[in-house]
Amino acid sequence: MSAVVESKRISVPEIMAHKAAHQPVVCLTCYHAHTARLLDEHVDLMLVGDSLGMVIHGMENSLGVTLEMMILHGQAVMRGAQKALVVIDMPFGSYEESPQVAFRNAARVMQETGCQAVKLEGGTRMAETIHYLTQRGVPVMAHIGLTPQRVQIFGGFKTQGRTAAEWPEIEADARAVTEAGAFSVVLEAMAEPLAAKITAEVAIPTVGIGASPACDGQILVMEDMLGLNPKPPKFVRQYASMGADIAAAVKAYAADVRARTFPGKENVYQMKKVG
Ligand code: KIV
Repeated sequence: MSAVVESKRISVPEIMAHKAAHQPVVCLTCYHAHTARLLDEHVDLMLVGDSLGMVIHGMENSLGVTLEMMILHGQAVMRGAQKALVVIDMPFGSYEESPQVAFRNAARVMQETGCQAVKLEGGTRMAETIHYLTQRGVPVMAHIGLTPQRVQIFGGFKTQGRTAAEWPEIEADARAVTEAGAFSVVLEAMAEPLAAKITAEVAIPTVGIGASPACDGQILVMEDMLGLNPKPPKFVRQYASMGADIAAAVKAYAADVRARTFPGKENVYQMKKVG
């Protein structure tokens, strides 16, 4: 007898269908189980981004993030999320060498986390790999424009497509990942009119970050929009001031402890009367 496990998760084809239905795709990054639980009701897609290197681990950029780190955080998010589609970033060094290496590592990510898709950076140069993966059952979200894993080549985090001369290459990237079989493409730090043009040109949903409101969906780093990053990128709208809230709460707690006014009976084990 075989057991049928019915998944209630949003699927890759459902995300793709947002484009034709003109329904914006709501995406956020997520790295932990408890925040995944909070996000799950409201977002269509959670990305376990390699930005976790900076956000969670205090790294300078994402180049030091390993496959093991992505798998560990991916497992945590999968435990918290029941509904949203979960995508996990392939970290630097885990997919660029060859389509075969990319497949082996992407398969490991999917098998060890249960996530539904992976994301990798690069346009035309990664098209062969995207094709190879999608043909073998690995759904791929592409990522073009500013690709942070190439920060050393770009010489910093710079907006892409500021001059019309740059546009043809970036448009070719968008076409290449679409033709290779990506189910969606992140457009990061891209001049607004170019991101709008690409969105109109390609058949898959574009997900913007610092790109254009015309994109088919948007993604932000959750900690940036919650006010936990003291230096968020300029384009980020903050929806909460959690950094300030945490600092105020910790200050109040520290004052209570120091003044021994720490009030809560609830914070003290009640001993049973002995004898
Ligand atoms: O790593 C990440 O968080 C990302 C998003 C910024 C799209 O790639």
